[in-house]
Amino acid sequence: MDYKPFISVVENFPIEGIRFKDITSLMSDGAVYKQAMDDIAVYAKEKQVDVIVGPEARGFIVGCPVAYTLGLGFVPVRKEGKLPREVIKVDYGLEYGKDVLTMHKDAIKPGQRVLITDDLLATGGTIEATIKLVEELGGVVVGIAFMIELTYLDGRKKLSGYDIFTLTQY
Ligand code: PRP
Repeated sequence: MDYKPFISVVENFPIEGIRFKDITSLMSDGAVYKQAMDDIAVYAKEKQVDVIVGPEARGFIVGCPVAYTLGLGFVPVRKEGKLPREVIKVDYGLEYGKDVLTMHKDAIKPGQRVLITDDLLATGGTIEATIKLVEELGGVVVGIAFMIELTYLDGRKKLSGYDIFTLTQY
């Protein structure tokens, strides 16, 4: 299915020069949102995933419905100070800005097959950091699924060696 007609492109948001890809218009159409999540669930099933991991906030929008569909667990990756128990941390660079991501220390068991989800692949910094967290706990990243890939930012280069699935590209 072609998801592009359901994604809004917003000029100069959140800062000048960025063409923001807004998935909320896609999400507001129940049938299209379901189809998008089902497409990713098929990929996850092929990869024999044990658990799904997604960074806040938009990684949850993709990861949770897919986890629910497959009856799998979902592990949230959050910005610093949000998770209540013992965490592991990683610094990461964004398309615009910098931050720290954290994950609960007991969230992944060694050897578990992990699918990472997010709405969008831009520079790949967020997912590169998420991979570090998963691998530090002994998880095996068997796939990474996005709704959108911005090919001109070359995020795939940062994630080379990992299997990537995307619903649509710009
Ligand atoms: C956005 C987006 C991805 C990431 C992509 O999240 O949802 O997670 O940036 O950029 P990258 O490939 O260059 O890392 P953001 O950090 O804005 O957080 P949010 O989802 O909480 O808005």
